[in-house]
Amino acid sequence: MQRGRLGGLDWEEKRARFQSLRLSAKGLRLLTARRIRYQVACSLDGYIAGPNGEIDWIPNDPDIDFGALLAQFDTLLMGRRTYQALPSHEGLEGKRIVVFSRTLRPEEHPEVTVSRELEAEVKRLRAEDGKDVWLFGGGQLFGSLLELGLVDTVEPAIIPVILGGGVPMLPAPGVRRRLQLTGHRAYPKTGIVLLEYAVRPEGGPRCRS
Ligand SMILES: NC(=O)c1ccc[n+]([C@@H]2O[C@H](COP(=O)([O-])OP(=O)(O)OC[C@H]3O[C@@H](n4cnc5c(N)ncnc54)[C@H](OP(=O)(O)O)[C@@H]3O)[C@@H](O)[C@H]2O)c1
Repeated sequence: MQRGRLGGLDWEEKRARFQSLRLSAKGLRLLTARRIRYQVACSLDGYIAGPNGEIDWIPNDPDIDFGALLAQFDTLLMGRRTYQALPSHEGLEGKRIVVFSRTLRPEEHPEVTVSRELEAEVKRLRAEDGKDVWLFGGGQLFGSLLELGLVDTVEPAIIPVILGGGVPMLPAPGVRRRLQLTGHRAYPKTGIVLLEYAVRPEGGPRCRS
């Protein structure tokens, strides 16, 4: 065998191949990891509920397949207020619901997992095998997770209404993050526009202030 060669490849080629394998293994892990996706219905002026928590402005669009949407997820994350505003769990049978709260007593809500360990719990969920995780809301929980760098996508369904006030999609003060458009679709029957953005990793190109 020639010095510095093994199996027909020299050491430099071996090293390059090994490195590219390691990179692709990392890439594969990134590609297959379950994502935390904030999917939310949002007014054009940035609210997810009216001033009194109203959601009567969100129309049912016959072209949006809610079943297919739900099938992409096996776990839902909710802030305590969203959980308490939910009229029922109808349609969510078989889904794991994790509610974040520092005030709820877990033993009083056996139908869900109540956690106060936001970062640890979400990191653990993310590392598990499974479908994507629906960050169901609300805005406060989104803000907490965005700050921790634990939101992979932001997917607002923009409803053609101006509410003039209410529960913001992201309460101030929030962090700034760059987004990359990954998909969009308009639903002409109701005028809903679905936008899909990937949250860019921190350290990427900065926004101008
Ligand atoms: N349009 C839509 O698609 C949509 C979707 C979801 C929700 N909503 C609406 O949004 C409203 C609720 O949103 P919101 O922003 O007011 O509240 P939220 O995010 O649902 O809940 C806030 C609560 O979550 C808990 N929480 C937040 N960060 C936490 C952390 N780091 N660790 C532990 N617990 C944490 C706290 O509970 P404790 O106070 O118990 O500690 C906090 O008070 C409701 O009216 C709901 O109907 C609309």
